[in-house]
Amino acid sequence: MCMNSNEPDNVWTIVVAAGSGQRFGGAKQFEMLADKTLVEWAVTAAQAVSDGVIVVLPPGAALSPGSVHGGASRSDSVRCGLAAVPADATIICVHDAARPFASTGVFRSVIEAIQSGVDGAVPAVDVVDTIKTVNSEGVVMSTPDRSMLRAVQTPQAFRATVLRRAYDALVDGTDDAALVEKLGGKVVVVRGTPAARKITTPEDLEWARQYAHSLTNGEI
Ligand code: CTP
Ligand code: MG
Repeated sequence: MCMNSNEPDNVWTIVVAAGSGQRFGGAKQFEMLADKTLVEWAVTAAQAVSDGVIVVLPPGAALSPGSVHGGASRSDSVRCGLAAVPADATIICVHDAARPFASTGVFRSVIEAIQSGVDGAVPAVDVVDTIKTVNSEGVVMSTPDRSMLRAVQTPQAFRATVLRRAYDALVDGTDDAALVEKLGGKVVVVRGTPAARKITTPEDLEWARQYAHSLTNGEI
């Protein structure tokens, strides 16, 4: 069947929340930030721009409509989420529950990039530190030109057919875009925000609590 370019896109978002939080020391995705858990913050931002949201939860967690169990690696969890996204979705976003403050605006930017014709779009911020590549002995191999580096975040958006093909073909990647890149897909960066910082350690959660407090008091 030919795609009618006048048809509106059917946008679905997978929120991956099936990690065990080794570095945090527990299931960080269920910590409260003001009145909501991290997962709920992420889902709320996604719902504003999505026709549907699939939440991927740890094996054993209680499921409700729209949630599924994840797997051992993040890629496995995305794959579990993809299986639950309806076949007629045309754009799929993948978002970490561990980034509670990625804005609806960033979701819009990555989705609009896909609508302009690329295969994938990822939010990114400039790298402030100098980055070095090292070998297994810790000897510096090179110092890449910082102006060519970006730190990427989620939500990442993809043309649905391309993301499904990437996940069918490839086992693992450091992020979803990397799989699409490996297949030769065109992935662009859009402007990310410092607030989309990933919660990895208890210090990150401290920052997030203060940020949530400022948000709910209308200070930001
Ligand atoms: N994730 C997932 N399934 C996994 C591993 C990770 O759904 N098997 C999700 C996490 O819940 C998180 C996102 O992927 O929302 C990014 O992962 P990360 O920040 O690394 O979280 P964890 O894997 O839980 O933390 P750690 O690596 O410290 O164990
Ligand atoms: Mg992890």
